[in-house]
Amino acid sequence: MKVLVTGCAGFIGYHVVRRLLADGDAVVGLDHLGPYYDPALKRARVADLRRAGPLEFHVGDLADFERLRALAADVDVVLHLAAQPGVRHALLDPFSYERSNLLGMLHVLEVVRRRIPPPRLVWASSSSVYGGNARTPFAEADRVDDPLSLYAATKRAGELLAHSYRHLFGLETLGLRFFTVYGPWGRPDMAYWRFTEALFDDRPLEIYGDAAASRDMTYIDDVVDGVVAAVRRSVPDELLNLGNAEPIPLDRLVQTIERAVGRVARRIAAPPQPGDVATTFADLARAEAALGYRPRVRLEEGIARFVDWYRWWRSVR
Ligand code: NAD
Ligand code: UGA
Repeated sequence: MKVLVTGCAGFIGYHVVRRLLADGDAVVGLDHLGPYYDPALKRARVADLRRAGPLEFHVGDLADFERLRALAADVDVVLHLAAQPGVRHALLDPFSYERSNLLGMLHVLEVVRRRIPPPRLVWASSSSVYGGNARTPFAEADRVDDPLSLYAATKRAGELLAHSYRHLFGLETLGLRFFTVYGPWGRPDMAYWRFTEALFDDRPLEIYGDAAASRDMTYIDDVVDGVVAAVRRSVPDELLNLGNAEPIPLDRLVQTIERAVGRVARRIAAPPQPGDVATTFADLARAEAALGYRPRVRLEEGIARFVDWYRWWRSVR
């Protein structure tokens, strides 16, 4: 199988491409290596992928429509993972979300629909689309019209764009709603990385708002299982949750990291951040039925693997 992976140098892209290369698939990767977090980490991921197999990697932006079109010319599946992520950063740089998540998504859909026959499209949506929903666990059939951040609004917009393209052009699109994914080679802007870094640096860590706020934290290998199943399998679904079905309070996340690092954290209570949701919690019935998706890695195990990797990363960066 030949797959175009956008966001190939990103956290999830790196892990999925590693698995695809190991399975013998042909991968064309695209990433703009943007500065949202240290591009050296993105370059290190690409270097590691090049050691893993014959990757065709291109530095480029989703905004370059003709380039994207050329890269998708002969692939079986487009796996669109590139985006401007992060819930809180949207207050600082809203236009990066417009460019990557709105224009970028439209470019991907146009590229796909202009191919004859169109390749399948699997792409990254987000648990954040459930926004202020009170009923848990979050199920794909729930109404999602209360996004609490610009990031969430752009991901929901992507779902609606894809929906209209399915209707207009009969495309096969599958949006995967990822729930707070963590693990080795992860994202420095996310809570688990920031808490670990603060402990290693012997700095206090900041807890925004309520320490009882929870996230359905999902280990990267479980997510890769779900994404690769979606790449390989044609499913009738339009949207599927990929989570862990166990919301983890921030307090428990900190304690788990403390145990893995072997240090006790100093905590500072900081104000709640605009855009944050109180909890996320995935209903996985549909993902299990469609993809055989069943997360296996428990938080303690996943955090221990992250902390081991992070120790190594600090020693080489
Ligand atoms: P990431 O930032 O590590 O990876 C995204 C990659 O896309 C980056 O390498 C970035 O350089 C690239 N990119 C961004 N805009 C681009 C553009 N205009 N052109 C080309 N490349 C561009 O993030 P991630 O955690 O790997 O997330 C992957 C996808 O999953 C994103 O769509 C994200 O919104 C979504 N998601 C992630 C999580 C999570 O917890 N990690 C949860 C829900 C959804
Ligand atoms: C994460 C990703 O960053 C998004 O890209 C993704 O789309 C989203 O998950 C998702 O699941 O859809 P978020 O839940 O905000 O978003 O994840 P973190 O950045 O790890 O934050 C989790 C919680 O920790 C939030 O309540 C946040 O306010 C809190 N936090 C974060 C702190 O208390 N301190 C920090 O230093 C950082």
